[in-house]
Amino acid sequence: MKFFIDTANLEQIKEAQDLGVLDGVTTNPSLMAKEGISGDENVINHYKAICAIVDGDVSAEVISTTYEEMIKEGEALAALDSKIVVKVPMIKDGVKAIKYFSKKGIKTNCTLVFTAGQALLAAKAGATYVSPFIGRLDDISTDGLALIEDIRLIYDNYQYPTQILAASVRHSAHILGCAKIGADVMTGPLSAMLALLKHPLTDSGLATFLADHAKAAGK
Ligand code: G3P
Repeated sequence: MKFFIDTANLEQIKEAQDLGVLDGVTTNPSLMAKEGISGDENVINHYKAICAIVDGDVSAEVISTTYEEMIKEGEALAALDSKIVVKVPMIKDGVKAIKYFSKKGIKTNCTLVFTAGQALLAAKAGATYVSPFIGRLDDISTDGLALIEDIRLIYDNYQYPTQILAASVRHSAHILGCAKIGADVMTGPLSAMLALLKHPLTDSGLATFLADHAKAAGK
C-alpha cells in the first residue's frame, strides 16, 4: 500500500520523505489555507515546492466547479510538473472533466467521495485515483472502512484500474484497516504514520537490551 501524506506543510512533507516511506502528497484548499497559502502565484509556487521535495504524485485540487473552468485550471496545474495529479470534486461537471483529462493522459484524483456509486462513476470516467473520505464518514457514525471494502469489491469485479486512495485517514488503526482490505493508497497525517512505529514492548525491550549491553561491558 502506498503512503501519501495529507498536508501542505513543507516541514512535515520533508520529515515523511526523510523517513523513506513516502509515496506522494495530497492537498486540498483547506490544507493550503491552513498553511496561509493564498493567491494564484503563491499557490502555484507552493505546489512546485512540494514537487521538489517528493518523488511521487502530488494532488493539486481545482477550485472551479464548471467543466470549462476545471479543464482550464486542471491543464495549468498539470503543466507545472509531471508529478501533479489534478484533484477534481465528485460533481457532474467533475465527472465530465475527469473523462476529458483521462483521454488527454492527465492524472486525476476524484475527491469528496462518500458512496460506492460515486466511486463507480469515477472509475468509469477514468480517474487515476478515487478518494473516499473514511474519517468524515466515521464522524457521522457511518463505517468508513466498509466503504473501502465495497469499492475494492466493485473495482475487482471489473478490473477497474482506478486506484483506491483512502482519504480522511485519522489514525494508525485506519491505516491498518485500509491495508487489510487492500486499498491501493492511504493518505493521512504524519502523526498517523509515526504512530505505526509505537509499541510499549518495543520501547521497554530496547531499554533492556541497551542496559544489558552496558552491564556486560562493565559500564
Ligand atoms: O484531503 C482530503 C481528506 O483527506 C480530508 O481529510 O481529515 O479533513 O477529513 P479530513
